[in-house]
Amino acid sequence: MCGLVGYIGDKQAQPILINCLTRLEYRGYDSCGIAVSSNEIRVFKDAVRVKVLEKAMPRLSGTLGIGHTRWATHGEPSQVNAHPHCDCPGRIAVVHNGVINNFQTLRQKLTKKGHRFVSGTDTEVLPHLIEEYYDGNLEASVARALKEVEGSYAILVLAVGEPKLVIARRDSPIVVGLGDRENYIASDVPAILDYTSRVLYLEDDDIGVVTASGVRVKNNSSEVRRKEHKISWTVEDAQKGGYEHFMLKEIHEQPKVIRDTIGGYAAEGEPVVELAATGEYELGDVLILACGTSYHAALIGKYLIEELTRTPVRTELASEFNYCGRTSAENVSIVITQSGETADALKAIKRLRGEGCRVIVITNVVGSTASRIADRVIYTRAGPEISVAATKSFIAQLMALYWLTLPYSKIDTRRLDNLITELRQLPGKVQQVLDQESVIADCARQLAKFDDVFFIGRGINCPVALEGALKLKEVSYIHAEGYAAGELKHGPFALLGKDAPVVAVVARDHTYEAMLTNIKEVKARHSPVTAIIGEGDGEVEELVDTIVTVPRVEPIFSPVVNAVAIQLLAYYAARERGCPIDFPRNLAKSVTVE
Ligand code: G6P
Repeated sequence: MCGLVGYIGDKQAQPILINCLTRLEYRGYDSCGIAVSSNEIRVFKDAVRVKVLEKAMPRLSGTLGIGHTRWATHGEPSQVNAHPHCDCPGRIAVVHNGVINNFQTLRQKLTKKGHRFVSGTDTEVLPHLIEEYYDGNLEASVARALKEVEGSYAILVLAVGEPKLVIARRDSPIVVGLGDRENYIASDVPAILDYTSRVLYLEDDDIGVVTASGVRVKNNSSEVRRKEHKISWTVEDAQKGGYEHFMLKEIHEQPKVIRDTIGGYAAEGEPVVELAATGEYELGDVLILACGTSYHAALIGKYLIEELTRTPVRTELASEFNYCGRTSAENVSIVITQSGETADALKAIKRLRGEGCRVIVITNVVGSTASRIADRVIYTRAGPEISVAATKSFIAQLMALYWLTLPYSKIDTRRLDNLITELRQLPGKVQQVLDQESVIADCARQLAKFDDVFFIGRGINCPVALEGALKLKEVSYIHAEGYAAGELKHGPFALLGKDAPVVAVVARDHTYEAMLTNIKEVKARHSPVTAIIGEGDGEVEELVDTIVTVPRVEPIFSPVVNAVAIQLLAYYAARERGCPIDFPRNLAKSVTVE
């Protein structure tokens, strides 16, 4: 959701900004731009991808600059709406991530005072407002301007003749990368991994001044210290490593991600010690909230926790939860967010905490906002996920949920031991799915010929069907719907036929017989069926047109192997259609606005 970068030091800013923006494009990519300051501020921006901008750009000399890659909220993607935005004399330049809710009021007020606006964005009020209060002290004028702003923002501001960058945040992330006589700013760590692994994070309502030699931060006019963190991710983690797309690389990383995530909780042979064993939490009623793919992990968590612990679980989309009339306070609230920055998820955490609930966050990003406002954090170890479509972060979230749930399970010790043993074998099982890549790619090429696809599943694999449909539509632009298999007959049947294929996710559990019936019903309506089945399932094989076989696993782990199969299906369907897989149109990796 918009990426911003800044540099101040003794090197030329332009190539550094361009490099950082390239690494940050997954946050938004409908337009981009940079501003470099020396004796004057020079801005270059357009509604193009960073690579194209770089080629068209003149040399902008200066060792101080800001850059932005945009995901439009107010105003269509165009050159004039691209960031940076400036005040009219061009003395102040701003890049912004977030939404200024009261921009209309501010714009009217500023227009009356003689400010002239050229774009359709909310952001443009910021440089004008800052200019209005600017009297030679940039930090003070930014602080004064932000007092009038309602909404969310992460901003970087520079002014002619000021050898500094002023930065500020509210509800949108900013990370400062610390260098040697130089400093970097970005909305996300992967942008600056090439240059430093020492970072600090701004908190809400912080205003900072970054110079080549240091960072000063104030909150509510008082000087504050923000802790330095060491990032363990490497530059290679955030590169394609020979794969055609990040999505494919990230799918292939999943055996390692499973190993790393589980290994991060306990080494082999160590006891399963999580919240249960530490006595920190009683597992009573559970609430799980999330958005997008993380929501599908939440749904799998519901089946898992209810199956193993008999504890009721309520799951909700964080964006809906924020507007529901809440009546009950569950005693464990879990929020799942890979980025730790999704606005709806953060709002839900704040609401829950405001109501006195303790919140456990499952996130992949150390130091993310969610991790800092939660009571308890369970980290996944997926490494940086660059492709907009989530894959390895989803599998890592499932690992966190298994690990969280197993200690609470009301099953005998032997079964528990068996489950833990099988959990540790999942990397090998996932590798077996990856080894089927060419078969799955063939199926995907068939699917790619259609414009509408249904995914169906039951029980713990129903969310896998939802995730399959989400993945397919996200990256291949094929219209896809995920359905609980039993619900298909309550409407979607009207759409079945030879042009509407169905992908059935079948597990050998108590849902099996019902799934067979559903597949027969679909076949009777002439829809081609692809089934994802466990090895040696001859019964289903006879019923359907195409099969993708995955290794047999304990039913509660079947979502893991099935999910990897649907990820590959989506990837290869998108590839067949020539889609921009890592950066699907209109989407962004981290949605930091409501
Ligand atoms: C965006 C991404 C999805 C992701 C969702 C939730 O829509 O494109 O891949 O699942 O946000 O993100 P989160 O970081 O909260 O898990």
